[in-house]
Amino acid sequence: MSRGLFITLEGLDGSGKTTQINRLAEWLKKRGKLPVVTRQPGGTATGDRIRSLVLDSRSAGLAPLAEMALMFADRAQAIAEVIEPALADGRIVLCDRFTDSTEAYQGGGRELGSQVVLDLHRLVCGNLQPDLTLLLLPSLEASLARARRRNERIAAQSGKDEGRFEQELDGFYGRVREKYKEIAAREPERVVLIEGDLSIDEVQQKIAEAVAAHLWRFACTPSA
Ligand code: TMP
Repeated sequence: MSRGLFITLEGLDGSGKTTQINRLAEWLKKRGKLPVVTRQPGGTATGDRIRSLVLDSRSAGLAPLAEMALMFADRAQAIAEVIEPALADGRIVLCDRFTDSTEAYQGGGRELGSQVVLDLHRLVCGNLQPDLTLLLLPSLEASLARARRRNERIAAQSGKDEGRFEQELDGFYGRVREKYKEIAAREPERVVLIEGDLSIDEVQQKIAEAVAAHLWRFACTPSA
């Protein structure tokens, strides 16, 4: 059994990742490949509890290092429980956020720097690297407006509060965006940067092109 393919989606809050991951999953299914779709934080029972803790506005006093440690605790659990078993089984894994998010948000946004994130990634995650990362970077204004609308909708529908990050000021998100661009420039082989206020269909087209190139290269098992 050949190893599967690990694809991550990254971007600012409200960048359209969730829509695109759902579309990509459908696109793959039509090609006979049933992906494992997961997200961070979350995606496991333990991870969902960590997600509630870190995203809830009541966790306002969370120290940046505690926040980073929780993101890595979530990730270690997801790798053990979901990601590694699926890759070992030859499956395609689509993961909504991974360590690039920690580097961008905690390293950039919270100003902890990249090195501590990369060091922890090596220690806690065995340095597992995605085969392909799709980085969606619409303008700051468009992303944040969409993220705030989404959180209001979630709060109205389910009563869940996931708004702690959206309460950050634009300076925080400017640093997150810059760090994402730095990662893309550092690892152009892995990271496909899709920048600007494109339509959903345009973004989907670019994602399909990038994934098609990888499917060809990695030749995943057709039945997976
Ligand atoms: P989501 O709504 O896209 O799932 O994102 C959850 C929030 O958590 C989002 O504001 C980004 C943030 N986050 C971090 O700050 N660090 C991380 O490592 C991850 C995975 C998410």
